[in-house]
Amino acid sequence: MSTVKEQYAALQHTAASFGQEHIFRFWDSLSSQQRSNFLQQIQNIDFSALQGLFDQYIGGGRAAVDGKLEPVKPIPIARDAAGRKERARMRRAGEEMLRQGKVGALLVAGGQGSRLGFDGPKGKFPITPVKNKTLFQLHAEKLLALNTRYDTRIPWYIMTSQSNDAETRAYFEQHAYFGLPAEDVFFFQQGMMPALDASGKLILDEPGHIFTNPDGHGGIFAALARTGAVDDMQQRGLEQLFYFQVDNVLVSLCDPVFIGYHLDRKAQMSAKVCPKRDAFEKVGVVGRINGKLGVIEYSDLSDELKQARAEDGSLLYNAGSIAIHVLDVAFVASLAGRKLELPWHVAHKKIPYIDAEGKRIEPDAPNGYKFEKFIFDALAWTENSAILEVERSEEFSPVKNADGEDSPATARRDMSQMYARWFRACGYEVPERENLQIEVSPAFALDADEFAAKISGEFDFSRPVYL
Ligand code: UTP
Repeated sequence: MSTVKEQYAALQHTAASFGQEHIFRFWDSLSSQQRSNFLQQIQNIDFSALQGLFDQYIGGGRAAVDGKLEPVKPIPIARDAAGRKERARMRRAGEEMLRQGKVGALLVAGGQGSRLGFDGPKGKFPITPVKNKTLFQLHAEKLLALNTRYDTRIPWYIMTSQSNDAETRAYFEQHAYFGLPAEDVFFFQQGMMPALDASGKLILDEPGHIFTNPDGHGGIFAALARTGAVDDMQQRGLEQLFYFQVDNVLVSLCDPVFIGYHLDRKAQMSAKVCPKRDAFEKVGVVGRINGKLGVIEYSDLSDELKQARAEDGSLLYNAGSIAIHVLDVAFVASLAGRKLELPWHVAHKKIPYIDAEGKRIEPDAPNGYKFEKFIFDALAWTENSAILEVERSEEFSPVKNADGEDSPATARRDMSQMYARWFRACGYEVPERENLQIEVSPAFALDADEFAAKISGEFDFSRPVYL
């Protein structure tokens, strides 16, 4: 084993050969523990790959997506009898998979939730309209209800990152996994990625630490393989994974209709989409890029294409991605095994740094570049995919911002409004107003049909209603 001194000399040499020697400028002031932690962090940095990323994405000025863009036509929402019959068939196939215990749930919860500005993992954010259950609890209760409904055990794989892993695990432990079997909840950590400043330099956020950020939800494939999660899935005989994000309060977890379509199309990875609110809604759309399936980012679609219309008058690029997927376990395993690399995406962001005196500065304007991978880029590797259109008001309301659109307020409103529709469908007169407070626990009903089969009694909707 080499000594700290030798390691330091070797890493200093490597860093210098990539123009990164500045990272050692506070070396003399570090304690021996800080030195060894710092060297460990530096050892894991791939200087050459970072140099390549800088040249490709920042130094040379990355071109917008070049190539041919084409829209895709999703499987439409069933509005007629034939469509409903087909859905019922898909549902039966999906339900069969669930009953046989071949479906796992895959949650990404490693993000930093910077827009929401909540101190702690986003999953701990209290969100339900009456009981204020947290996002994690809400998802856990849906899984519990599914386990009961299908007399099965759905293992839950939860991706965390360095900054929220311990707190997330502790939270589940404190709450006894919300009633789920502890051995069915599998936490795994994603990788971290160093950011660069405008001249390609690594950024120190402490005298003995380089700023890194979680490597994006696309970091999931490498993380699943590295942490043994894929092995665990295979040992349990899982075949399909239902992927979702922590901040969508309306997610229809393990939706059997979606799983059914995915199976029917012999898909490796499928995606749910919603029509865009308008041409300029800032959302990526599922489409083809040079013939390959993927998500065309908002910034990569010209204003002309954003507004282009199909023959029926709808927007041509209308398949808004809502970050819900079904993934074939064999596909996930093959990606991990083949070491296929998803592309990086770069974002100009505010990154804390330390100045010449070692003082930490929180900048007011973007000062560096973060690199992230996106899960939807794996669509390019599929041979088949089911792209399923769904109702936004039933399935998608994410908590992204502290206020305004896609915030806790809109998520609570959208939940209450959905439950109000469930009541109305059963003949209840629920006032048409924005500030209803209605909550239906997943333990009572997971969907409108289950609700209709159980609901009875009278309710006063001028007060909060909880079932
Ligand atoms: P977002 O891209 O919306 O990011 O993540 P975020 O972390 O929630 O919020 P901002 O952008 O910092 O404000 C969508 C989903 O992907 C997960 C998030 O936890 C969320 O469930 N995610 C994102 C990861 O698991 N890892 C990442 O590196 C990024």
